[in-house]
Amino acid sequence: MSTARKVIIDTDPGIDDAMAIFYALESPELDVVGLTTVFGNASTDVTTTNALRLLEIAGRTDIPVAKGAVRPLTMPYRGPVEFVHGTDGQGNVFLDSPTTAVASSDAAHFIIEMVMADPGAITLVPLGPLTNIALAMSIEPSLTDHVAEIVLMGGAAFVGGNASPAGEANILNDPEAADIVFGANCPIVMAGLDVTEKTLMTTADIARLATFDNPTARHVASIIPHYAAFYRDRLGLDGIHVHDSTTISYLIAPDHYTWVEHPIRVDCGHSFSRGKTLASMRVSDHEEAWQRRRPVRILTDVDDRAVIELELGRLAG
Ligand code: RIB
Ligand code: CA
Repeated sequence: MSTARKVIIDTDPGIDDAMAIFYALESPELDVVGLTTVFGNASTDVTTTNALRLLEIAGRTDIPVAKGAVRPLTMPYRGPVEFVHGTDGQGNVFLDSPTTAVASSDAAHFIIEMVMADPGAITLVPLGPLTNIALAMSIEPSLTDHVAEIVLMGGAAFVGGNASPAGEANILNDPEAADIVFGANCPIVMAGLDVTEKTLMTTADIARLATFDNPTARHVASIIPHYAAFYRDRLGLDGIHVHDSTTISYLIAPDHYTWVEHPIRVDCGHSFSRGKTLASMRVSDHEEAWQRRRPVRILTDVDDRAVIELELGRLAG
């Protein structure tokens, strides 16, 4: 019997999402049992098309794709980030249309069906706004009693944001949903900017990746230049932050990380700090709003060369 951990990846592909999905598919420690899609880096129509195409490229059309929410819970979609991910969400390579189709269930119901059919076995790996997970929790309030763990990319506990001075993009794209998810009754790991901005895949690493001779690495090598140009031109970096892959590295090699554990609320106000992930750090002082929440494992540091080598090794095939 396989001991691989069953994961559903909830995603808005997205260049770093594509890397994380392929990394997971190449990792025997993980069994990807579904992809669910959400708006974020691009519209849900685009991210769903990309999810289907990515699985075709990987030769894994056996994995179902369930289409998710097209907008946040309470506000309009903030729109695509073409300057980071391209108008197609895949670095403007404009993939052919997929030949496969989405599952009959929407993302929230797919998550509920999978978790309730296999209680305690499924780990959720959200790589985009948390709308689908929050919807699933609202439809089935006992859902997170039966989720093994949520390991999410999002948030910024002790550093500034990347979509606003306070807000990380995935959280700022649906703060109300994120605040629901951080109240989930299961272990939660937050791979936010605190650690993902310490994880740099350098230009030299990317040049190495471009020599890998397999379909998934070739696709990644074709989409990274658009992403790398953003990091070079806007941030002056010699490489890229591999935000979403951090969830996969943590799942397969947690010893490369350090963390602290505190309950989190998300600022859902409509002022400058909207979308900030607020960790309550003094146990005796917890405000009532934090008191009934489980502590979230907030990743704070990483052996970044070790995890980049791990990812490159898996993408090499
Ligand atoms: O802030 C980084 C996150 O925003 C990543 O998930 C990236 O794909 C974008 O969605
Ligand atoms: Ca993402």
